[in-house]
Amino acid sequence: MTDTFCGRTVLVTGGAAGLGRAHALAFGARGAHVILADIAEAGMAETKALVEAAGGSASAHCCDMASEAEIAALAETVLAAHPRLDVLINNAGLHMGEIARGFFGLGQAKWQHYLAVNTLGPVLLAEALRPALAAAKGLIINKSSMASYQPATAYGITKACLNVFTHAMAMQFAADEIRCVGIAPGLMETPAAKDGVAEDNWQRLKGMQLVRRQGTAEDIANMAVFLASPEGSFVNNQILLCDGGNQMRGFRI
Ligand SMILES: NC(=O)c1ccc[n+]([C@@H]2O[C@H](COP(=O)([O-])OP(=O)(O)OC[C@H]3O[C@@H](n4cnc5c(N)ncnc54)[C@H](O)[C@@H]3O)[C@@H](O)[C@H]2O)c1
Repeated sequence: MTDTFCGRTVLVTGGAAGLGRAHALAFGARGAHVILADIAEAGMAETKALVEAAGGSASAHCCDMASEAEIAALAETVLAAHPRLDVLINNAGLHMGEIARGFFGLGQAKWQHYLAVNTLGPVLLAEALRPALAAAKGLIINKSSMASYQPATAYGITKACLNVFTHAMAMQFAADEIRCVGIAPGLMETPAAKDGVAEDNWQRLKGMQLVRRQGTAEDIANMAVFLASPEGSFVNNQILLCDGGNQMRGFRI
């Protein structure tokens, strides 16, 4: 364990698995207290145990990012316990299955759910946590996707909308010296992505990268660590792609 983020607090939504777990471990192992928020209780318990095994500390909170009431309750709990919040990582998201197959025929209820989780939840949570983020002159990281650059699916559209919010949030939160940055991963090996993308499509997408290795959850967590560190403190209002150069070949998701 290192102490780079000792005394800092980091909240990770979707911290029960995949990229969120990697973020939790990266910050926890560097001394931050990690607050996990997710709907998957068992996964959160596993992440908490992993953070603690790495020498860090964590708390776990059930919160459905589609629910305004649950977001408000989470924020109330966090504000009471942590008057300063250094980093909010809006990572929870729906990205596999029907949401990633197109956008016609979904109907209003599904659209509202996808937009609630992937787009509005991050905005509402950041708004609710603003006092603690302001006290720390903190950082909001919105988890976007390379799919946001080619919004041919409901998923890509929800993330493209989140990119727009990221710019608006950077502007609006600047009054409190809070930065807001998006990270747009390419194809990263997480259990959900590996299960959700057919093997031939996985190999095709991987073959489009300029970097000839598999992108990992740690690649994304490392970007977040950089952004939250003094070395990254002049970066604001950007959507940063981390896709092994996939964009050069036009994505073709
Ligand atoms: N893995 C990739 O290749 C990739 C690429 C681009 C973007 N992303 C984005 O990164 C994020 C994490 O991806 P991952 O691969 O780790 O996925 P994942 O499915 O493993 O993790 C997502 C987490 O979000 C949680 N979650 C889902 N709905 C929720 C809700 N309503 N409220 C609270 N939590 C909820 C899940 O329980 C899960 O723990 C997502 O936003 C995804 O869109 C992933």
